[in-house]
Amino acid sequence: MDKKFTVKIPKAFTISRIEVENYRVKTFYFTESLPSQPGQFAMVWLPGVDEKPMSINSAFPFSISFAAVGTFSKALSNLNVGDKVGVSGPFGTFFPYKGKKVLLVGGGYGVVPLRFFAEEARRKGIVCEAIIGAKNKKDIIFDKRFEKEGCKVHIATDDGSIGFKGTAVALAEKLLKEEKFDEIFSCGPEMMMFHLSKLGKKLKIPTYVSAERYMKCAIGICGACTLGGQMCCRDGTVMVSDIPLATEDFGKFQRDKSGKKVKY
Ligand SMILES: Cc1cc2nc3c(=O)[nH]c(=O)nc-3n(C[C@H](O)[C@H](O)[C@H](O)COP(=O)(O)OP(=O)(O)OC[C@H]3O[C@@H](n4cnc5c(N)ncnc54)[C@H](O)[C@@H]3O)c2cc1C
Ligand code: FES
Repeated sequence: MDKKFTVKIPKAFTISRIEVENYRVKTFYFTESLPSQPGQFAMVWLPGVDEKPMSINSAFPFSISFAAVGTFSKALSNLNVGDKVGVSGPFGTFFPYKGKKVLLVGGGYGVVPLRFFAEEARRKGIVCEAIIGAKNKKDIIFDKRFEKEGCKVHIATDDGSIGFKGTAVALAEKLLKEEKFDEIFSCGPEMMMFHLSKLGKKLKIPTYVSAERYMKCAIGICGACTLGGQMCCRDGTVMVSDIPLATEDFGKFQRDKSGKKVKY
C-alpha cells in the first residue's frame, strides 16, 4: 500500500528575545528559523508540562505570540532568554495569495497568523486592511505591527473603550459597504468566524477561516481535532468558509479535551 506519513520530531529551539505585548501576551523570538507559510502552526513542547499548537508569527526567525491563560501557557510565559523549548512543524494549510486587496479580521491570538500574512502580502504587492476585535482596549495587540506592514488598521471593542463599539463582524459589515475587497481572511473565536463566513457568503466575497479544535497529534491521525469529518490540523486550519459552514458543528459545537462534543 502506498501511504505517506508525516514525521513529527521536535527540535530544541532557543529563545533569543522576548517582547511583552500586553498584560498577558508575550512574543518569543527564537535563534532558529522554521520555513513556513502564514496560517500554519507549530507544536510547542515543554517536557513534563504539555505540548500545544501555536500559530506561527514569523518564520525567519521563528516566533510565537501567546497569552498566559492556563498551565501550559503560564509555564511558557515564565521562560527566559536562553531557555529551550521543543518545536515541531510547520503543520496545516495556509492563507492563499490570490486577491489584490484582502480584509484581515482577527480576534484574540487570531491576529498572529494574519500579521504574518500581512508581512508576506506586502512583499507580494497585496494590499491588506486589518480589523482587530477585542473585549476592551487592554486586550488589543498587534495594531502597531499591522501598521508596520503597511496595513490600515480598524479596531472594534465590545465596550467601545477604543475604536468602533461593537463586534469585529459588525465593523467588517460596515467597512464592506464602503470598500471593495477581493477576499476576507479570518482567525479568532469561532463565533466571530462563523458570522463572518455567513456575511462573506451573503456578499459573495471568498472568505477563509482558520478552523481550530483541541489538537493532540497535529498530523491527522488521532481524530481529536475533527470538525464534521475535517481534521483541522491536516485539512486546515485554513479552509475556505464553505467547508466548515457545511458541517453541523461550525459555530455550534466544540470538543473538550476528552473529545466530547459540547455546545458553544
Ligand atoms: C491551531 C492553533 C493555534 C493556536 N495558536 C495560538 C497562539 O498563537 N497563541 C496562543 O496564545 N494560543 C494559541 N492556541 C491555543 C493554545 O494551543 C493553548 O490552547 C493555549 O495556550 C492555552 O493552553 P493552556 O494549557 O495554557 O490553558 P488551558 O488549560 O487549555 O486553558 C486554561 C483556561 O484558559 C482558557 N483559555 C484558553 N485559551 C484562552 C485564550 N486565548 N484567552 C482566554 N482564555 C483562554 C480555557 O478555556 C481555560 O478555561 C492555538 C490553538 C490552536 C488549535
Ligand atoms: S490533532 Fe490528531 S487528527 Fe488533528
